[in-house]
Amino acid sequence: MNNKQNKDVYKKIRIILNYYQLYGEIMVKTANRLNLIELSQIRKMFELTDENAINLGIGEPDFDIPENVKMAMIDGLDAGFTHYTPNKGFLELREEISKKLKKDNKLAIDPESIMVTVGASEALYISAQGLFEKEDEVLIPDPGFLSYKACVDLSESKAIPVEIKIENDYKMKVEDFQEKINPKTKAFIMNSPSNPTGSVMDKEDIKAIADLATDHDFMIISDEIYEKIIYGKKHYSPAQFSDNVIVINGFSKTYAMTGLRIAYLAGENDVVEELLKVHQYNTACASSISQIAAREALAGPQKYVKTMVKEFERRKDLVTKRIQDRGLKCSKLEGAFYAFPQVENATEYVQKALELGVITVPGSGFGENCENNIRISYANSYEKLEKALNRLELIKQ
Ligand SMILES: Cc1ncc(COP(=O)(O)O)c(C=O)c1O
Repeated sequence: MNNKQNKDVYKKIRIILNYYQLYGEIMVKTANRLNLIELSQIRKMFELTDENAINLGIGEPDFDIPENVKMAMIDGLDAGFTHYTPNKGFLELREEISKKLKKDNKLAIDPESIMVTVGASEALYISAQGLFEKEDEVLIPDPGFLSYKACVDLSESKAIPVEIKIENDYKMKVEDFQEKINPKTKAFIMNSPSNPTGSVMDKEDIKAIADLATDHDFMIISDEIYEKIIYGKKHYSPAQFSDNVIVINGFSKTYAMTGLRIAYLAGENDVVEELLKVHQYNTACASSISQIAAREALAGPQKYVKTMVKEFERRKDLVTKRIQDRGLKCSKLEGAFYAFPQVENATEYVQKALELGVITVPGSGFGENCENNIRISYANSYEKLEKALNRLELIKQ
C-alpha cells in the first residue's frame, strides 16, 4: 500500500471507532454476569497516580528474570520455537513440573495430568469455568486475592466468604471453615502463602481442610503461587492429603516472570482432561517461548530464587518494624511480599498516602471484612521502600 492508501485506511478505521464510541452503549448489550464484577481496584489506583509516586501497590517482584532464562528464550527464538505447542504444553516442560511437584511437594503427578496455562490467572478461570455450576457454593478466603470472587461470579456460582481473623494472624483455621460446609459446597479456593495478608497456613489446618474435602467430596483449588516466597516456614500443599485438589502454581512470582504469563495446574487426570476443553477453546496453548523460559527456570540453578527471597525478607523485616513502631495492628508476615495492617480509616489513609507520593491499596478490594485494612507491597527496592515508609509516618491516624 502506498502512503495515500494507508491514510485512507486509517481514516476509515477512525470513523468506525468513533461510531462505536458514540453508539457502542446502545448497540452492545453485555451479559448480565458482567454486572457482578468490577475492574480491579489495584489497577484503578495505578491510573490515579503520577509516575513519580513510589509504588507499594504492585503485586510483582521488582527483579529482572534470571539470566539463564533470558538466554534460553533467545536460543529458543533462534531454534524456531514460535509455533503452537501441544494444548497442555510442551512435554519437556510438563516433565520438569512433574519432577518439581515430586521434589518440593511430595506429589506423584504425571505429565499427562499437568496443564500449562497463561498465568495462574488462566488456571483459576479454567478451574472455575470447568468445575462450578449455578447452584454451587464456592468458599473463598476473606481477605483473599480479588480474582477468586470474580472467577466464581463469572461462573455464575455463589462465592461464600470465609472470614480469616487477624487474631489468628490471618491464618485460615479449620474451625472457621467447617461451619460453612453444606451439601451445596463445590469447592474451596485455598491460598497459602496469602495475598493480601502475607500469612502462611499451618500444616494441621491444611490437612484438616483436605480431609474435609475428601469426606464431603468438594474440590480444593490450591493457589500456591507464593510457595517459594516464604520466611522460615514450610509450605504444604493440600494435595499431599487429598486427591480432591487442583494445584495451581506458576512462574510470575518465583522467577519474576509476570509478563511472560506462564503457570500450570495439576490434579487428577480425568479432571485435568475435562478442564483442557476450556483451555483449548480459550487460548489453545500458552506462549511457546514462555514455555521454554519456564522449563529453564525449573531445570536451571535455583540460587536466583534464594537471593530474591533473602532480599524480600530484609524488606519484610523493615516493614514489620515500621508497622510495629506505628502501633498498627498487623499479622505476622511469613510469606509473599505483602503486609495488611489495620488503620483507622483506610480510604483516608490511602488518599493521604497518595498525596505524599506513595501508592497503597485499600483493603476493601480483598473482601467484606477488611475495610479498615490497607495492603502494602514490599516488592519495591529497599531504598524506595524506606523512603515510602518515611513518608507514611507523616500520616496521623
Ligand atoms: C494469589 C495470586 N494468585 C494468582 C495470581 C496471578 O498470577 P499470574 O501472574 O500467574 O496470573 C496472583 C497475582 O498477583 C496472586 O497474587
